[in-house]
Amino acid sequence: MNTIEDIKKGRLPGHLAIIMDGNGRWAKERGKLRVFGHQNGVEAVRQTVETAAKLGIGHLTLYAFSTENWKRPKLEVDTLMRLLVTSLRKELKTLNENNISLNAIGRVDTLPEKALKELREVIRKTSENDGMTLTLALSYGSRDEITTAVKAIASKVKNSIISPEIIDESIINDHLYTRNLPDVDLLIRTSGEYRISNFLLWQIAYAELYFTDVFWPDFSEQHLLEALKSYQNRERRFGKISEQLN
Ligand code: IPE
Ligand code: IPE
Ligand code: MG
Repeated sequence: MNTIEDIKKGRLPGHLAIIMDGNGRWAKERGKLRVFGHQNGVEAVRQTVETAAKLGIGHLTLYAFSTENWKRPKLEVDTLMRLLVTSLRKELKTLNENNISLNAIGRVDTLPEKALKELREVIRKTSENDGMTLTLALSYGSRDEITTAVKAIASKVKNSIISPEIIDESIINDHLYTRNLPDVDLLIRTSGEYRISNFLLWQIAYAELYFTDVFWPDFSEQHLLEALKSYQNRERRFGKISEQLN
């Protein structure tokens, strides 16, 4: 068993991203509707957010709804949007108590008006907090993000605001939804699926990947600490060799 004290404070991921997957299967295993899984996933979100903040992680990004998730049955999409509204409302206090500021990435303008309004409000009411930044990926797709960035850059070139020669990685970075976030250090995916599902493709270029079979509603503080332990035992070489590090 790991405790928070077992995690080395100096070797935390600056940016932790999580693909919270397996709500539907968790519910199915219990003979319940998929939406029951989503409801129970909310508790895992709260616990993860609190533990990450307590540990001193600077950035936590959660994949909550993908551009592809709009293709799910209407009842499920509606429930997810309603859950988003109620959770935001309920968690505002927790965010402020833990000095967490809320941020969102994705095509948030495609969210139902009520959800968008609540989201903007919580972002505004937590904007002074300078502890952890919690970013929700909502109606987020990495290919959509990159396409949007390319369009914006192309339009600047066309209008002679920038010349093509100066386009470099940092300019591309500055046109992504994540422009204010550092690269991802650790990416966790739950539920035993080994794929990225259109999440932060550019930003995970050198992230450490961690997969667990646990379904998202069962993801506890213990599982998070296990993932962090694994991360802290890895050697990140960024193309160099061991002997060149430090
Ligand atoms: C993740 O759980 C939550 C969202 C994608 C919104 P799923 O709903 O994908 O659950 P499974 O993968 O079908 O079990
Ligand atoms: C990825 O999960 C999106 C979120 C966790 C929000 P999915 O369950 O939608 O991924 P795929 O479609 O199975 O790859
Ligand atoms: Mg899934």
